[in-house]
Amino acid sequence: MSDKIKVLNEKIAEAKLGGGEKRIEAQHKKGKLTARERVDLLLDENSFEEIGMFVKHRSKNFGLDKQEFLGDGVVTGYGTINGRLTYVFSQDFTVLGGSLAEAHAEKICRVMDMAMKNGAPVIGLNDSGGARIQEGVVSLGGYADIFYKNTMASGVVPQISGIMGPCAGGAVYSPALTDFILMVENTSYMFVTGPNVVKTVTNEEVTAEELGGASTHSTKSGVTHFSRANEIEAINNIKKLLSYIPQNCEEEPPMLPYEAGDETRDKLNDIVPDNPNQPYDIKEVIEGVIDSNTFLEVHKNYAENIVVGFARIGGRSIGVIANQPAVLAGVLDVESSKKGARFVRFCDAFNIPLLVFEDVPGFLPGTDQEWNAIITNGAKLLYAFSEATVPRITVITRKAYGGAYDVMNSKHIGADMNYAWPTAEIAVMGAKGAAEIIFKKDIKEASNPEEKWKEMEQLYANMFANPYRAASRGYVDEVIKPEQTREKLIRAF
Ligand code: HXC
Repeated sequence: MSDKIKVLNEKIAEAKLGGGEKRIEAQHKKGKLTARERVDLLLDENSFEEIGMFVKHRSKNFGLDKQEFLGDGVVTGYGTINGRLTYVFSQDFTVLGGSLAEAHAEKICRVMDMAMKNGAPVIGLNDSGGARIQEGVVSLGGYADIFYKNTMASGVVPQISGIMGPCAGGAVYSPALTDFILMVENTSYMFVTGPNVVKTVTNEEVTAEELGGASTHSTKSGVTHFSRANEIEAINNIKKLLSYIPQNCEEEPPMLPYEAGDETRDKLNDIVPDNPNQPYDIKEVIEGVIDSNTFLEVHKNYAENIVVGFARIGGRSIGVIANQPAVLAGVLDVESSKKGARFVRFCDAFNIPLLVFEDVPGFLPGTDQEWNAIITNGAKLLYAFSEATVPRITVITRKAYGGAYDVMNSKHIGADMNYAWPTAEIAVMGAKGAAEIIFKKDIKEASNPEEKWKEMEQLYANMFANPYRAASRGYVDEVIKPEQTREKLIRAF
């Protein structure tokens, strides 16, 4: 018996070495952790149960028969994060560059199936050169199997992708089908084709960092939802993210104990400037209303004219969507509409109530926007709010103009409660533009057109630059003092 146990121990040790000590050293030299070190950091201590440690590939092409590694380049299994069941796969770059082949894909599919069966999240820690080139179409098939399962799991269990190294080709499409992507600055990349192929096909010279680094994907493309300075921060971010989310679409998000006290927040009265054209930071409003230090911003540096993220109010997990007057006056454009819509749909799928702060001058006009389908993309946000069945509340802090008034979770599209601050202006458009159009003739014929324009602007503003018209129709349920907002929201949610 002891001999047999010795053999088992040797096999376990061999599997744990992945591609061998030299490659582990190379991985560490690049500032990267190994697949197993990442799993240990992610899961609660001693909670990891590994599945398929001795799985090997079956390929004999191009010398692969002499390059067999136990586990086939991916560590898979389950464990707990803060006591909650979580499934995980972690690709091992030291084994054939973490490349994905038949057996490797089967292991990933197995944990995804178990996650769906048992209703728990799947975390993928990706570090892979894409399809294992030696295996050809078999590895493409493996990818397609994973993509299909990603799609089947979407909206059923949360799926989160940590990008921990260079991910190329197929290695980027599975993460793109998941709910959230996190990248590590300077050591992780995502591209469909790398810089060499780009140079060959388009003659464009670009570095890996410019093409698909964390900075590119967190600011320009929005492919990643979070960018973190190192792997430890990225893994901690995954744990924090999970704390706002339920285990599956049939559960409620975790609720923290909360004892109601004095919920008045005087500071909120001083945020919106008297001049309606002066910007302010909507994050001050968000922070002033929610439980302290609970805001986890998503897509922080992408489409900054809309702010989205998770927070808690009275211990309850909520999703916040807010126009940001400090960036492009908080206008809705193609990117902010896509960003907002995606976040709303995630929250709706996982029973997370929505809180909207609205200060929006409308949709951004222009050829750039029209040619990039602001019509289609704006409609995505409208559709996402309209179909959401989670509790949803809107607070209009200032401007609610035009179509954007309708889109930003108005009463008409199913919001449950709509509040407005006394600074709210709910109108088809700004008073200046409105006066120019409807009083065009009067202005033109006036002895002093400039003065007449101002007079008409004032007339329009008096009528619409306030929340009371909307309140008189019941489009706004209550006009509240900013300081009351937190208390009202806790009660309403
Ligand atoms: C097999 C691979 C591999 C792959 C890397 N390796 N990628 N083996 N298939 N796709 C192996 C290398 O041979 C090497 O083996 C080890 O992994 C480390 O690779 P290096 O190149 O030395 O590392 P590095 O310099 O850090 O570069 C990493 C990299 C680069 C940027 C990922 O390896 C690379 O460009 N790989 C190919 C990317 C690619 O084109 N993949 C196919 C995409 S097609 P040794 O033995 O030396 O350790 C695809 C189709 C699916 O994915 C599409 C579905 C929609």
